[in-house]
Amino acid sequence: MNNSKNARRVGIYSVNALFCAFLLALILAPFSSVSIAQTNITGLWLYKIPTGDGNYRELFLDLKQDGETVTGKVMFSLNRSTPISDGNLHDGKLHFVVMFGRPPRTRQLVYDGTVKDDKLFLTSAFPGRPTMQGVAERTDEKALQPPPRLPLPALHDVPDNGLARTPPMGWNSWNKFAGKVTDKDVREMADAMVSSGMKAAGYTYINIDDTWEGQRDPDGNITSNLKFPDMKALADYVHSKGLKIGIYSSPGPKTCAGYAGSYGHEQQDADTYAKWGFDYLKYDWCSASEIYKNDEMRPVYQNMGDALLQTGRPIVFSLCQYGEDNVWTWGAKVGGNLWRTTDDINDTWKRMSDIGFSQFDIAKYTRPGHWNDPDMLEIGNGGMTDEEYRTHMSLWSMLAAPLLAGNDLRTMSDSIKEILTNSEVIAIDQDPEGKPVRRISDPASTAVVLARPLHGGYLAVGLFNRADQPQAITVSWSDVGLTETPSHAHDLWKHADIATSGATYTATVPAHGVVLLRVTPTKSAR
Ligand code: GLA
Repeated sequence: MNNSKNARRVGIYSVNALFCAFLLALILAPFSSVSIAQTNITGLWLYKIPTGDGNYRELFLDLKQDGETVTGKVMFSLNRSTPISDGNLHDGKLHFVVMFGRPPRTRQLVYDGTVKDDKLFLTSAFPGRPTMQGVAERTDEKALQPPPRLPLPALHDVPDNGLARTPPMGWNSWNKFAGKVTDKDVREMADAMVSSGMKAAGYTYINIDDTWEGQRDPDGNITSNLKFPDMKALADYVHSKGLKIGIYSSPGPKTCAGYAGSYGHEQQDADTYAKWGFDYLKYDWCSASEIYKNDEMRPVYQNMGDALLQTGRPIVFSLCQYGEDNVWTWGAKVGGNLWRTTDDINDTWKRMSDIGFSQFDIAKYTRPGHWNDPDMLEIGNGGMTDEEYRTHMSLWSMLAAPLLAGNDLRTMSDSIKEILTNSEVIAIDQDPEGKPVRRISDPASTAVVLARPLHGGYLAVGLFNRADQPQAITVSWSDVGLTETPSHAHDLWKHADIATSGATYTATVPAHGVVLLRVTPTKSAR
């Protein structure tokens, strides 16, 4: 009896204990991220950040959790990742840091978030920059793989489309707007192109760079995203201003900004661009590198060269693969009107001058219809002085490079407008013969003398000062191929003739500056 009483009591106690534990669990439930934190977050996650235009930026997080410590990496693509540091998961709160760049220019991207229902709700921000928000869900290795490789065509020479007999001139959205460009910006830039006098100076193309793309419709047709409600209407608007319009894509599945590329849809996309009324395509290698090797670029670009011709619409074809695989030797053969020769420019004297002064060895590949492209202009974006921007404009013109302004045409100062619309300098760039520039000076010298033969026997001569202080630079007329003192020479920035006598001409050139001359040889030398 006692035993059974005791037994019952024990039973009652244990029922009570269970009930209490249940109550406690109920009370603590809202705060019980502790139990959620015990969800081990080790594994591969697809992190989608809405870009605000109907698309998502997609990253992969490869995480490993050991207790409260989290290690791993953020993967931007199959072969591009950055390790995470300072990672921990505490009470369901996840925190880690990703470092970008090399010292002393490193930047920290700090991720913070919570783990809930086996999802990671994350925010990330560079110091002083807007916060990005997104959700990561579990995924597997397959999601990381690029689509299957499509066979490449046999090589042939794509017929010349007859366009770009002089280097293309216009404006491109990337340098100033990057991923923020909208339909409204493009329309306003077309307006400003006309009202500023840029159109009258020869600038023609209004080119939309990356981040206009939306998703593909069920038939595989590319659509534009929320920032660009109607591409055909936009093209009509730009055309109504007497201008032409350009678009951007990639031969890979994704563009460099992670938007839809043309992989496997080349003809379909070319047809869409033609239907919308586009006149120019910049075709950027980007994620094609996950599928093809660099020495397979030629057939990949040939595909699009053929597709553009097939549309029957005249469309300038701009190759952007950063000068890999000696593109200047085959760019014209894939139907290219211009090809990038370098990695991206930025708005600094160092980058602009490093690019601009490294182009002479390949100058001979440039010719009417087919141009070396040392990247778009940064003139007016604020990172260089007017002196340096004059050098940028002069150097690009001596190189017969495309002149694609990259600044905000709506708000540019008079001095920037003057630089971009200097008709005498533009005439050097646009010389109908497109003859290559020649460096006359010693390659190691900071005093760079360039010469370029022009139509009609004239000669462009540039005295460039790469040094950080002014210096006197001398050109000897015989070094630039003249047998006599020229009869006449005109300074294209001062808009004044200079006196020519004797065998040489010397000018004191400001630091990072230029003296650009158009020289009229004596009759016998022409
Ligand atoms: C690459 C190109 C740039 C620009 C961006 C867009 O970096 O070189 O000119 O088009 O992609 O994502």
